[in-house]
Amino acid sequence: MHHFRYSGSDLHCESVDLAAVARLYGTPTYVYSATTMEDNYRRLQRGLEGLDAHLCYAMKANSNLAVLRHFANLGAGFDLVSGGEIRRVLAAGGNVRGSVFAGVGKTEAEIALALEHGIFSFHVESEPELARINHVAGRLGVKAPVAIRVNPDVDAHTHAKITTGKSDNKFGIPLAHAAAAYEAAAQYPHLEIRGVQMHIGSQLTSVAPFVEAVKKVAPFAAELKQRYGIKYFSIGGGMGIIYRDALASGAAQWWESQPADQRPLTPESYGAALVPLLQPLGLKILLEHGRFMVGNAGALLARVEHLKRGANRNFLVVDAAMNDLVRPAMYDSYHEIVPLHRDSSRRALVADIVGPICESGDCFAKERQLQELGEGELLAFLSAGAYGYTMASRYNTRGMAAEVMVRGSTFELVNARETFEQIIAGEKVPAFLQR
Ligand SMILES: Cc1ncc(COP(=O)(O)O)c(C=O)c1O
Repeated sequence: MHHFRYSGSDLHCESVDLAAVARLYGTPTYVYSATTMEDNYRRLQRGLEGLDAHLCYAMKANSNLAVLRHFANLGAGFDLVSGGEIRRVLAAGGNVRGSVFAGVGKTEAEIALALEHGIFSFHVESEPELARINHVAGRLGVKAPVAIRVNPDVDAHTHAKITTGKSDNKFGIPLAHAAAAYEAAAQYPHLEIRGVQMHIGSQLTSVAPFVEAVKKVAPFAAELKQRYGIKYFSIGGGMGIIYRDALASGAAQWWESQPADQRPLTPESYGAALVPLLQPLGLKILLEHGRFMVGNAGALLARVEHLKRGANRNFLVVDAAMNDLVRPAMYDSYHEIVPLHRDSSRRALVADIVGPICESGDCFAKERQLQELGEGELLAFLSAGAYGYTMASRYNTRGMAAEVMVRGSTFELVNARETFEQIIAGEKVPAFLQR
């Protein structure tokens, strides 16, 4: 459920008319609903009642400082993957002490920065990394808290590029080798074994792979608790969101209308399946959801440049492009695209919805049906709050989009559109080319 809906003919985020946002800040602009994020956070908490659960929000999904501050205020820590993300948490006033540091290639400088700010735990992906963390901790005269990421070899049944828990993915240590890795960790003088972690993939729409992975790893977690006194089990993130019926899924009735055997994953069904498996462990349970927390809380606003009628198909050219929202080009992802002003008297239009970038891949949707739209009219790409802005680039020297946060009837710019001067600020022509 979320807070994007039509009020009359005009698409609103909470009580804000999105056309007003586009008029004030231009397009392309990301808009985030603070209330939807809070609802998602609270639903997940309620779904896991009975566990000592703590969310480390996977900030790679959306790391705008306002979003981070919002989750920090709610009590979340962060799943972070770089020195830059540590600095973002600090800049947002978040808590590194309640956060975990993941990733297969942490540098010595990043490890040192995390230790200096009291990171809750490192999620270690390999044996060489154990040695590196031990070395940096020794240099700083501290003990580094670690958990090993185990790879349970479970098929998450999601897109190949976001599957992470199969044996041929680069992540984690195979379950069969994990006991030896913990033994190695226990020999290092500057490491403190604190937990165990797994993450099997992103955009999972069924609870079955989570259940399979937890069933595989829980007995190992119990052994680690006995042997090393571990304190927590992080079951990763990965809960999926609704992309195809994004607008309709904002309302409770849509969820109720889904046939019981095909109901998409919810925090309630996730909790109902996992709490009984996790409770007997008596461990703190960490969650690293990113997409679920913010995905349906964001939309990308864009403006129509032209309707180009081709020989075989129509192209609706908009001012957003693959540099702003790369998911369709990168993963063939579907985003529901709706007009900001709905007019049922208009004729229907079937068109490919494309951006202005010089790549055939700069296409958001093929043969999509919409109402007829003309130059200057506004559109929203729904379910764009996760892996939208954070995966954006400056390709074709297009500045990064603006970002706006809404709460109730108020909204504020939380990231200004990038200017040309900002794009080229670090560049220069070398002396040997100047004449
Ligand atoms: C270790 C880890 N945790 C959590 C996440 C977040 O996944 P999601 O956004 O699907 O919840 C990821 C995503 O790549 C990840 O690699």
